[in-house]
Order: sequence, then structure tokens, then C-alpha cells
Amino acid sequence: MSHDLLIHGGDVVSSSGVERADVWIEGGRVRSVGADLQVPAEVPRLDATNKWVFPGLMDPQVHFREPGGEAKEDLASGSEAALAGGVTAYCEMPNTNPATATPELFADKLERARGRSRADYAFFLGATEENADLIGEWETLPGCSGIKVFMGASTGSLLIPDDPTLERVLRSGKRRVTVHSEDDPRLKERYADLMERYPDGAPVGLHHQVRDIESAVRSTKRLLDLAEKTGRRIHLLHVSTAEELDIVRERDLGDLVTVEATPNHLFLAAPECYEEHGTWAQMNPPVREARHRDALREALLDGTVTCIGSDHAPHMAEEKARPFPKSPSGIPGVQTTIALLLTAVRDGWLRREDMVRLQVEGPARVYGILDRGPLVPGSVGTAVVVDPSRTETLAAEWLLSRSPCNPFIGRTLAGLPTEVVLRGQVVLRDGVRVGDPAGQPLEFEETVRP
Ligand code: DOR
Repeated sequence: MSHDLLIHGGDVVSSSGVERADVWIEGGRVRSVGADLQVPAEVPRLDATNKWVFPGLMDPQVHFREPGGEAKEDLASGSEAALAGGVTAYCEMPNTNPATATPELFADKLERARGRSRADYAFFLGATEENADLIGEWETLPGCSGIKVFMGASTGSLLIPDDPTLERVLRSGKRRVTVHSEDDPRLKERYADLMERYPDGAPVGLHHQVRDIESAVRSTKRLLDLAEKTGRRIHLLHVSTAEELDIVRERDLGDLVTVEATPNHLFLAAPECYEEHGTWAQMNPPVREARHRDALREALLDGTVTCIGSDHAPHMAEEKARPFPKSPSGIPGVQTTIALLLTAVRDGWLRREDMVRLQVEGPARVYGILDRGPLVPGSVGTAVVVDPSRTETLAAEWLLSRSPCNPFIGRTLAGLPTEVVLRGQVVLRDGVRVGDPAGQPLEFEETVRP
């Protein structure tokens, strides 16, 4: 298949602006960008007239379920959903079964992805009490996006239960450590109390009160203290409270702390989301009242939030039907993130340029991803083409995740991705996959080749 392509006539978006230009990709790399490029007739063409051309957009937080939970998602189905939604690369979390917590299990995941992942990929290593002192040795393995810490228990068995163990992890290795920040001791107390009050199941509308603001704030304060003490850079995943954003601003720790937001926290709000979607809106940390959603939107624009990740977390409808809190937490979103953000662009609270900042440059900076940035000569020839005139009601049939539990079904979304280009190859055309694309591992600044 050809790795040469001319994407012509579109509006090329970077974080600093939008320019009507052609993009000539040769051998999988951008050769030139400019108006009315003169290109040999044999180069295949993709007409992007009246469309927007983004560099390959990335999702730095997904949970696929391989190994151990393939009925919910595997690397093939999850990456297929990613590609259909315009995501050209993803970083996948370690809370599989078994958890990705040894070099052997990490190698196994990479092997499983080879030739089966439709999009480019990288994987996190999960921190445990057992590997806390060793994990820093493994974080530089090729294909590794870094270390993931769960300070609060969520799906799976990974948990760093206390500050001494967390400090050991933070002193092991050098790369930015990625953290799910909820205070486990407080969560345990609050679940015990809930079970006592509601032994046969509670209203899911209580989810954000059980895993309350204080659970998030307490944990994030502990984490920032330890980041400062150890000098280790950290990344706060899926921040859910206005209070944590204020703390990050007040502590002003510069590059030591970066922040992620998810579309779920940016688009949903309690109590309506629980009334309308029940447990399909249940995730950790929870979606909270509108003031948190609004604070997150503000933080996208003032730079407090560095990147957007979907936190794609597939569960089956039967599991979601269990009485809360036995219903699992997590919302599948890898396919709908870009459509939602394009809807935000249409509605005027996000700019196209911000999407490049938050979905290309942000993840690249947070994780040290090489070779992902604006479409300029020499850069990787990976792009997402969007039709801004398209408006569609999100249909369950369009979704390719094995989990059907997407609370955005039925929403009218704007400007869906129509074409995806991976290293010069058109792999999605008019929203339909072309050929048999295979992703490659992402490359990182701090990787050490064996
Ligand atoms: O809601 C969540 N679901 N939050 C997490 O941190 C994990 C995820 C999952 O894997 O299901």
C-alpha cells in the first residue's frame, strides 16, 4: 500500500492557528505543506475541501481489557473503535487481569498489540507494593508510556495503599508518574457506611457523594506533597473537582504537576446524568455537579489542564445492571471523544487549536511522546480529517466497542471525523475502515533500547 498522499484543499489545524493548505506526505512523512502544492500526478489524493485537517489525535488514557476481560474489549476491538472515532494513537492502562505489573506481562501486552492494534499504541506499567522499588527500572522499556498508580481502588486489583509505598514508587525511576487520585482509606469508610445504610443496593445518584470531593482533595494534597518532597513529576488523571484545580493553581508547582480532563467530566453533570443514564454515568472519580464541569471547562482554556483522555472503560450492560454500588465504574469513550470536542468547538467553548494542544501536544509533553506534533515538513504523516458540516445523532450501531454503555448515545454531535491517515495511508474513508491497518508502538524520549 502506498505511503504517499496529497491531502488537498483543507484547513490545516495546529495549536497556533488554522491555515488553508495542502499536505504532501511521502513515504509516510510530511514532505511539504502549503497552498496549491505541485505534486506528481501518480500521488494518491484525498480531497479535504471544506474540511478540517488535524495532526493525528491521541487518547492518552484508555482501558482495554486484554488480557483477562476480552469479552468486554480486546486490543483489536478497542483500537478499531479508536480509529473509527479519529484516534490515531492511545496509551492503555495496566488494570487488566493479570495487571501489567512485571516486564514479562508488559512484553506480553506489546506482543498482543503487534499486528492487531489498528491505531498506534503504548502501555502503562502498574505500580504495586511488590514492584515499588523495581518499577523505575522497567519504565524505560520500548512501548512504555510510564508508571500508573491507583491511590484509590477502582476496577481491578491495582492499589498503592499508603504514603510510604507511594514515596517508594515516586523514588523509583524518573519519568512522569500517572496517578488515579482518590483517598482509599476514606473510600473504604464511606462504602462501609453506604452498605450499612443500603444493604440491598443504593441509588446511583449517591455515587459522587460516596466518592466525595474530600476523597479526591485529600488524595491530591497527599500526592502533591510527595511530588514536591521527591521532586518527581506527576500527572493527575481525570480530575473531577473544582477544588483540585484550585489547589493545583495555588501550589503552582510548574512542570511538576500536569492535569488531565475527560469528556465525561466536561459534558455530564450530576444529578441529571445519574437520573438520565443511571449506572452508565458511573465512573471513578465520579461525575459531579455542574460547577465542577464548568471549572474544568475553564481550566481547559487557562492551561491548568494539559491534556484530554477518554478514560475509555468498557463494562457490559448486565454488569451495569447490578444494584449500585455493585455495578462497575467506567464509561466507554475512545470513539466519542473527538466528536464531543468538535461539538464543543461548534458550541463555542473550545477552539480547534485547543484540540491540537490538548490531544497532540499535551499528551506528547506529559509522556515524552516523540514524533507527534503539528503537520510540518518532516513530521509523521498521520492526520485526522473532519467534516464540520456533519451533524449526527449518535447511534448505538456506530459504536464499535464491545461495551454498549455509552451515555452519549442519542446526543446530536457535530463534525465527525471522516478520514484518518496513518503514515500516508488512508485507513478510514467516509467513516469506514479501509484495508487492514496496523498501528505501531509509540516512541518516547526516555525509552532505553535494550
Ligand atoms: O471508572 C473507572 N473505570 N475509573 C477507573 O479508574 C478505572 C476504570 C476501569 O478500568 O473500569
